[in-house]
Parts: sequence; structure tokens; C-alpha cells
Amino acid sequence: MNPLVHYRLDGQLALIGLSRPPVNALGQPLRATLLKACERAAADPAVRAIVLHGANGLFSAGADISEFGSPASHAAPDLPGLLLRLTRIDKPLIAAVGKLALGGGLELALACGYRIGEPGARIGLPEINLGLLPGAGGTQRLPRLIGAESALNMILSGEQLDASRAHLLGLFDCLADGPEQLLEQACGYARDLLARGAPAQPAAPYPNPGAELPEDFFAFYRAEHEARWKSRLAPRLVLAALEAACVLPLDEGLVREQDLFRQAEASRQSQALRHVFFAEREAGRVPGIDPAIELRSIRQVAVIGAGTMGGGIAMNFANAGIPVTVLEQQADALQRGLGNVRRNYEISVQRGKLSQEQLEQRMALLRGTLDYADIADADLVIEAVFEKLEVKQQVFRTLDEVCKPGAILATNTSSLDVDAIAAVTRRPQDVIGLHFFSPANVMRLLEVVRARETAPQVLATTLKLARRIGKLPVVSGVCFGFIGNRMLEPYAREAMRLVLEGATPAQVDAVLTGIDLNMGVLSMLDLAGIDVNYLVRQANHAAFADDPSYCRLGDELYAQGRYGQKTGSGFFRYEGRQRLDDPAVTTLAERLAGELRIPRRPIDAGEIHDRCLFMLINEGIQLLDEGIALRASDIDLVWINGYGFPAHLGGPLHYAEQLGLDKVLAGILACQASLGEHGQRWFQPAPLLQRLVAAGRTRIETF
Ligand code: 3HC
Repeated sequence: MNPLVHYRLDGQLALIGLSRPPVNALGQPLRATLLKACERAAADPAVRAIVLHGANGLFSAGADISEFGSPASHAAPDLPGLLLRLTRIDKPLIAAVGKLALGGGLELALACGYRIGEPGARIGLPEINLGLLPGAGGTQRLPRLIGAESALNMILSGEQLDASRAHLLGLFDCLADGPEQLLEQACGYARDLLARGAPAQPAAPYPNPGAELPEDFFAFYRAEHEARWKSRLAPRLVLAALEAACVLPLDEGLVREQDLFRQAEASRQSQALRHVFFAEREAGRVPGIDPAIELRSIRQVAVIGAGTMGGGIAMNFANAGIPVTVLEQQADALQRGLGNVRRNYEISVQRGKLSQEQLEQRMALLRGTLDYADIADADLVIEAVFEKLEVKQQVFRTLDEVCKPGAILATNTSSLDVDAIAAVTRRPQDVIGLHFFSPANVMRLLEVVRARETAPQVLATTLKLARRIGKLPVVSGVCFGFIGNRMLEPYAREAMRLVLEGATPAQVDAVLTGIDLNMGVLSMLDLAGIDVNYLVRQANHAAFADDPSYCRLGDELYAQGRYGQKTGSGFFRYEGRQRLDDPAVTTLAERLAGELRIPRRPIDAGEIHDRCLFMLINEGIQLLDEGIALRASDIDLVWINGYGFPAHLGGPLHYAEQLGLDKVLAGILACQASLGEHGQRWFQPAPLLQRLVAAGRTRIETF
């Protein structure tokens, strides 16, 4: 059995190695074993100093996230208690930090009197991403080590620092020459400390971290940042903990930190963000696909189409060092496309995010061509041409002719039938959907659409490749709009209908941003393009042909050339980037409502919330039942990373679970009963939702 901790003596040193793969998460069993090892070293008169390290190189990724919310999280020895005990051992403790020290892992290092890192080590306090604050002394010990303001920035950003920055800030006392030398040089450092008679805990560089701050620092900070935090709890708790570090003695500050941490841990927001953490790791696992499957090698990529989407897709590969050929039909379109890519990189250079040299390196990986023969050797081809089935099928016929055997042929369609695209080739097993979101070089989500005949090897290869280019891949089956756009459809439909019934676009969007969505759905349609949405809708016309009111407002805006932001008007009016209400939309809504005999009335926020969000949730549950999504958490990831749903609500389906599935069902049925024909037609609860509620289940899963 894995001993969890390796204990070894080296002269006067005890070497204690954490050994809980893969990341030395500090769950209760590891905490208990570590405490025992440290007590043994503390009690052994032959031991004069203790070196703590990761037995397999990696120091620790922090507390065990899977324990949060369960009794194990605070089971003895709890992490704060364990670390407090370490600070009281009367012998120097030296943390030898290899690879990573995150969260509680860094707090463990901070509890040691001394820290040495290796040049590749990264450290940080990412608790904020889990809706938490550092809860094992981090908010109190870090400001005393690097100053309150630096500590606050580090904790609120959750960012990782590289070793040289950590050294510069005083988080590492020194750096080893390399990972292989880390342990040996940590021991050398420990011997030096003993030879110098160094104390177990050196004096803190900032014993009174508040002393240097202006008196009203925290009030100002709060006022400056509150709007950006929206309703997030964790940043506010971090600020309170840092304030405590500035006004309370260490032991009292630690107690205050504990109170705040427990408050954060128990919050729904943290529950939601922990759900997202595990969802992201789960998304890569596809039932039935052996993780050991042999992958195809992807050394060269081709992108068909140099438009905004094609250019953005190509950048992803150049950024990852993979050569990519961009194919266009016309020389001027090609030049324009590559010019846009260069301009995007230049903006990054201006912002200091990229060096000029990196820009040139990336551009050197991009090649343009007008000739399909130039992409014959590509291992992966991604088509990003006009969103029309016939156009895409024609491209795939050509690809089938020219591409080498074994090449993966991908379509970037956002809604069309990938099976119908695959069917025009003689190799449907090599065809897959890769739905990038715009801007494709920025957005993290990648919907990976598994068509009927897509080979497991092709799916596994693209999932791996997606991670290599920094994307979060989520697998979807084939249906109109896949996961994301299919759910957008009823959500947008209700938003438009609400405006016909009497709400204003601003009122609809305010309800959605009121629960912290990045954007309301109508602003989002304005951004994406009313024309784009209209064309997608037309392709699915049969699904709503019997409802004359269906998205009528969107259709009329399209007919008036109000395509959204790009034309200066849509559901709203735009002056530069400023969004303004437009009374013309209300007038239009009044006219359409009259024509359609839809009575107008005042509509409250609760109705807007339930109609938009319950329809979104209902569609998500339905496509889970249909097997389009593999799991509810995949749907959450799509909406968080593709549509600005707040991560601290956990995604729409997690949000539904937190609201209560019975309440969601009751809300849908209430709309069905109260909205007349519209209610009868569209507010049909998903059968899976009904089954879940009938069975008293509270989690969304197929059964
Ligand atoms: N607790 C529990 N499991 C963890 C974990 C943690 N802190 N960190 C990683 N894991 C697990 C992952 O779930 C995954 O498990 P799986 O293989 O069963 O899916 C496995 O370790 C490997 O993780 P990744 O797939 O993410 O591997 P990567 O190499 O891509 O990333 C990592 C490694 C950078 C460590 C990343 O996992 C990560 O960011 N982990 C979270 C770090 C973190 O947030 N730490 C703070 C925890 S909260 C805390 O410490 C509170 C304290 O203040 C009291």
C-alpha cells in the first residue's frame, strides 16, 4: 500500500516526502500521516531540521477538493490545525517546492520557516476559483511575508506565479538549479541554516502588514471592485480576511480566517464552482472510449476559409506551435484573412501579451493557399466556410478527393447535420464536428460533435488535440444546434415573445444579468448578429412553422436590416459601444402584438426569469435524455464557457438543481396553464424532468 508519506533520515535532517498521487491533495489520511511524520521528527533528538518535499517531485495542489462540504474536510487533523502545529515545532522546516504548490499546498509551504523552489515551480492561491478563500493561514501568513497589497492581488486573482517571480517577491528564499537538484540543494540549504543557527521561524518581513496601507485602503478597494464582483461572495470574504490580517494579531486573524472560510465552503457559489472543477475533468472522459486508445498524430493542420472564424481557428494551432495552412478561393480574401490574423497578434503585442518575436514565429507557422493540392498532407482539416449544408457538402466532397487516407476531416458548423456532411465522403468514420465559438482564438469552449460513424480513434484524437490548443472540449451528439445552440433556441424564443407581450428588451436582459449572466440574451443576439440567428432559424423552419408568433420580433428586425451591433441597431440601439434602449423596438412589438392578437401587459421579473431560464433548462434536460449530451455537467460547461452563464451558479442544470427540480417543473406547468396557446404549445416539460421529480430525485441524470 502507498505509505502516503516517505520518511527518511539524512544525518541531522528528516526528509518527509508527500506521496499521494497524482497531486498530493491534502485529504484527511495524508494530513494525519504527515502530522505523525512531523511529530516523529520533532521528537527525535537526532533530527535538527525537517525538509518537506513531494516524493514524486510535485509538492502539493492543496486541500482535497472532493472533501469540501463533507465532514472529512475538517476532520482531525484539519489543515489549519496541522499547519499551526508545524509552525510551533522548534526546529527549522524547509519546504522544497517542486512543480506546484497551490492553495493549501502553498499554505503548507508558508507554514514552514523556509522555502526553496525549483526553476519550473509554479505557486498560487487559486481558492477564489472554487468560491473559497485560502483557509489554512494563507490570508494571514502571506501578507506578513510579501505585504498586504501583493497578497491581496495574488489571492483575488488566483493566478499562479512562476519561480523567479516567487523568488523576487520573497516567497522563495532561494532557487535550486533544477528539479533534479531540488532535494539535494534543499538539504544543503537546511545544513547552512543549522550552521548559521537560524531560528525555526524567521522574523516576518511585514509583521504589521496594515502599517503601510492608507487608512481607507479597504473601503476604496471595495468600492472600486464591487461592481465587477457582481454577486460573488468569495472576493468579499477574501477582502474581509485581508482586513483582519491588517488589524488583528496572527492568532486572532487565523481564527477569523476560519470563520470566513467555513462561510465560503458552505455557500452555494462554492458548491457550484467545485461542481465546475470536477465537470471540466470529467468532460474529457467518453464512456466506451478506452483512454489507452492509440491516437492519430497531428503534425499539420489545414483550415478551409480565411474569414473571421477560419482565421481565429488557425491562430489556435499557430499558438500551439502546429503548422497550419489556410485555404481560400480568392487571393484577396486570403490576403485579407491572413492580414486580420496578423492584426490580432499585433494587438496582443501592443498589450504586452506577446513579443514581436513570438508574433513572427506564429505568423511563420501560417501558410496561405488557393490550391487544395497544398493541403493533401494535412493530418486534420477544419472546414469553416459559409453555414449552408450544400456549400459544406461540396467542400467535403473535395476534401474526400484530395486528403490523404487517415486525415481527420472536421466541420465547424454551429448547427447543421454532421451526418449529412459525412455522408458525402467515402470515409464518414474520419468526419467529426469541431464547433469553435467566436472569437475562436479566445473562447475556451469547443463542442466536439460525434457523428453517427465517427471512429473512436478520431474522437479521442480530437479531444486530446483540443486540450493541446488550450480548449475545453465537450462532446455532443448530432442534432440541430448541438448542445449550445439548441438550448439557445427556446431561451431566445421566450425572450423575444416576452417583448411582444409587454416587456422591454432592457427589462428582459436586466433579469438575466441580475443573476450574473455576462449578457442578457437579447444583447447577445445583437452581438452575434440578428441575421445570423435568423438564418440559423430558417434552416430549422419545420420545427416552428405552425406558430406564426415564433420569433416574429427577430424576423422583423432582420427584415428591417437591424442586424444588431454591426449595423448600430437590433433589439437595442448602439452609439459606439454604448447600448441604449430603442423606443422603436417597443413600437414594433406593439404593432406585431396587435397583428398576432397577443394582449400586452406589465410583466414582472419573476416571469421573465422563469420563462427564459426554465425553457433553457428544460431543453438541456431533454437533450440529456436524448443522449445528445453525455452528462448534465457537460451541458453546464457549454453554457458557462460558450454563453456567459455564471460559473458560480454552476451552469443552467446545476442552477436548476439548486432551485429544486420540483420548483422548475411546477414553474413550467404554471406557464403552460397561464400562457394560453403559447403555453400549451411550448411549455412541455421534458419527460426526464417529470420522471426525476416523480422519483424524488434532486440531481439531473438519466435513468
Ligand atoms: N483536490 C482533489 N483532487 C485534485 C486536486 C485537489 N486539490 N487537484 C487536482 N486534483 C485531481 C483532479 O481532479 C484530477 O483527478 P482525475 O484524474 O480523477 O480527474 C487529477 O487530480 C489531475 O488533475 P488535472 O486533470 O487537473 O491535471 P492537470 O495536470 O491538468 O492539473 C492542477 C493539475 C494544476 C493541480 C489542477 O488539477 C488544479 O488546478 N487543481 C486544483 C488546485 C486548487 O484549486 N487548489 C486549491 C484547493 S482549495 C484549498 O487548498 C483550500 C485551502 O486553502 C484550505
